[in-house]
Amino acid sequence: MPSNPYTPGQVPRILAGRTAEMRRIEGLLARVVTFGELGGPLLVFHAPRGIGKTSLLRAGQRRATESGFVTAWVACSRQQPVLAEIAHSIGRALERADAVPAGAAGNRWRGQLERLTVEVGLPGAKVQAEVARRESSTPPHAAIGVLESLLHDAAAAVRKRGGAGLLLLLDELHAASADEMAVILNTLQNLDGERADNPLTTVAAGLPVTPEALTRAATFGERSTFVSLEVLSDDDARAALVDPAAAEGITWAPDALDAIIEESNGYPYLLQLLGSTTWEAAEPADGDQLGLDAVTRGLPVARDQLAAMHRARWGAASRLEKQFLAAMAAVGDGNITRAAIAAGMGVDSRAISVPRERLIDKGVIEPVGHGLVRFTLPGFGAFVRGLDEA
Ligand SMILES: Nc1ncnc2c1ncn2[C@@H]1O[C@H](COP(=O)(O)OP(=O)(O)OP(=O)(O)O)[C@@H](O)[C@H]1O
Ligand SMILES: [Mg+2]
Repeated sequence: MPSNPYTPGQVPRILAGRTAEMRRIEGLLARVVTFGELGGPLLVFHAPRGIGKTSLLRAGQRRATESGFVTAWVACSRQQPVLAEIAHSIGRALERADAVPAGAAGNRWRGQLERLTVEVGLPGAKVQAEVARRESSTPPHAAIGVLESLLHDAAAAVRKRGGAGLLLLLDELHAASADEMAVILNTLQNLDGERADNPLTTVAAGLPVTPEALTRAATFGERSTFVSLEVLSDDDARAALVDPAAAEGITWAPDALDAIIEESNGYPYLLQLLGSTTWEAAEPADGDQLGLDAVTRGLPVARDQLAAMHRARWGAASRLEKQFLAAMAAVGDGNITRAAIAAGMGVDSRAISVPRERLIDKGVIEPVGHGLVRFTLPGFGAFVRGLDEA
């Protein structure tokens, strides 16, 4: 029995499309591999929720691992000091034996990694503590030096032991504070000054507000490379459905594919969800084809799943936040201005900052620049308008 290959809410088995974006990551990696030097300025992918930022970063991480990189992954959050997380993650990455090439080269690498952990791991631990301590009490410039030497030591040690270098991945970068962003940007700037000694590169992802936040944190933040991720093209959306099924020996009827492409608008989360509900409805056996009838039978399940996500978000909102969401939904499903929301709530536009920030923190709405916000989940506006009618 073939098993359901779709992954709503998880990293996909097969990354569809994103060829140009992967090429950018590979360009940075190649520079580190070939010249043993810093791979270009900070590369930042930005997009709303569910578009595939984390999936892309994970694919980049896989590619780097295959090329002999040691990779450190940090999911930035407002609850954890980001710089300490970076230090921990690098420490763990150096210890982990998974991030090695296969075969004999891998065995050699494992031995080297052990020695390397002894060398860099101990001072690394000291550095972690220092970063954590300094972060809260002293101006960012104190932390810059610490992070700089940590990254340099780790990358140089990896390289010296025969690895390609270090890849630092920063997901959810919008959640870092302005100070933390300033430290990261200044550190990379300094490392670039001695580029040839620093075989590492950094790739980040965040919500659409990230470029603005980075530029505000340090003027030269704007020298980072910003790439916005879009919904998948029809061809890539098709591949996102067809390829995972093909790997299980299952095909799709053309009209079934068309229906899902139409329903999802190329939004990757919805593609995975609808692929999954169709599969569950069809329960295909080896060599079967998924048809339009299975899509139709799966649709209510997908809608239920979305509705459950809508209800959970609505239920977790305070009274004031609900008023805010209702005012937004009344205007429409696109990008909504502060003034329109305030008008809908019957208050001054300065009075809406608190619910606005809370809802952004909860991921229910997201800022899209210039003070505009929008819903993060497809159909949420319609859901809220539906409540009004009930
Ligand atoms: N290129 C792709 N091909 C196939 N599926 C994808 C692709 N990109 C994303 N997905 C799917 O879309 C969903 C969302 O992906 P992902 O979590 O990477 O998005 P995100 O932008 O990081 O969202 P968030 O902002 O909520 O973290 C997942 O179910 C994932 O499997
Ligand atoms: Mg993500």
